Amino acid sequence: MVGERGVFITFEGIDGSGKSTHIRLLSRELRRRGYEVLRTTEPTNSRIGRLIRESIQDASTRMPLRVEALLFAADRLHHVKSLIEPALREGKIVLSDRYIHSSIAYQGAGGLSQGWIRVINRYALRADLSIYLDIPPEVAMKRMERRRKSVFEVLPLQQKIREIYLKLVREGELLFIDGNRPVRAVQMDVRKVVFNLLKKRGLEAKP
Ligand code: ADP
Ligand code: TYD
Repeated sequence: MVGERGVFITFEGIDGSGKSTHIRLLSRELRRRGYEVLRTTEPTNSRIGRLIRESIQDASTRMPLRVEALLFAADRLHHVKSLIEPALREGKIVLSDRYIHSSIAYQGAGGLSQGWIRVINRYALRADLSIYLDIPPEVAMKRMERRRKSVFEVLPLQQKIREIYLKLVREGELLFIDGNRPVRAVQMDVRKVVFNLLKKRGLEAKP
């Protein structure tokens, strides 16, 4: 319904930064305005995604770092081919909870070079907009006290991941939004940048 090609928007941030909350609120608003939306997430629910989840549950099941990065890249390419591209061809707005920048930040924080991570993700479609929700790891950890933790959810690693995200912001790859505010204020900023993009594309919303 929105032209011949839809719009692909990704959401990034450390664990507990509010990505899924804001994707939910944004997609509700977009649908209310008549857009068709695909909400999706990485790792996906594919066989590869399940393998990844099993691997990152705890240190004892974890695969070697490079294998893990290749699995995330494989899951992503499968995601693009099976869900993202078909939805974009139908003119939908695709909102993805994590994409390539998660690999750069997380596997980069684990010690892999950014260059190699980009090489193995070379065939992943580029997003039209990548939003980064920034939040201090201490705050995120507090928000998620009751949630089951993956191997990534330890404070020093989350700090390193945040540093890489902030570098990507400085390099102009990610759009910074301060996520350490009440949900309403953060969501207002999210909507502002998304509606700006839709306007630029000539995909005006109903008032
Ligand atoms: P993510 O998807 O990035 O891991 P979530 O959206 O699941 O993050 O948010 C993690 C937790 O923090 C949830 O319990 C959510 O309700 C809460 N939360 C999200 N945004 C805010 C906010 N701005 N202020 C306080 N709590 C929040
Ligand atoms: P999952 O349990 O799906 O996340 P959530 O805690 O949001 O429910 O695990 C996703 C984890 O995988 C999350 O900590 C980020 C990490 N990750 C990477 O390390 N590299 C990637 O490329 C992606 C997409 C995610």
